[in-house]
Amino acid sequence: GAPVEIDISKLEQGQRVVREWRGQPVWVVRRSDEMLRGLDALAQSGDLVDPQSEVQQQPDYATNAYRSIKPEVLVLIGTCTHLGCSPTFTPQPTVQLAHGGFFCPCHGSKFDFAGRVYRSVPAPKNLLVPPHSYLSEQVVIIG
Ligand code: FES
Repeated sequence: GAPVEIDISKLEQGQRVVREWRGQPVWVVRRSDEMLRGLDALAQSGDLVDPQSEVQQQPDYATNAYRSIKPEVLVLIGTCTHLGCSPTFTPQPTVQLAHGGFFCPCHGSKFDFAGRVYRSVPAPKNLLVPPHSYLSEQVVIIG
């Protein structure tokens, strides 16, 4: 499939945009400072399966604490690593997701704002980060 350009200039803090790439949903989230702050605490909490993303699910340039090129911009494949449903973006805390993140309605898997999977849910792995780069400050290319 051809690379997909995503203009994120109008994407506000805490918002997500969805596009399709190779038949799969790609999400871009502009994380707020609050969302970013929560990531460290969660990594320490023991609540995540793979907090350091040691299983290779992101390109090398996104192998860091944020799983992204720019800390504030998260790029993910929006497909649950259990059986492929599309998790729901949950920017605010809910009963199921006390810190917000992504919630899969099919069988209740939970992911944080870096797409890292929580323990004790059916999904075995973090959400995938697709290959991507920046054409300019505000344009991401997927693929
Ligand atoms: Fe997401 Fe099963 S497909 S929890």
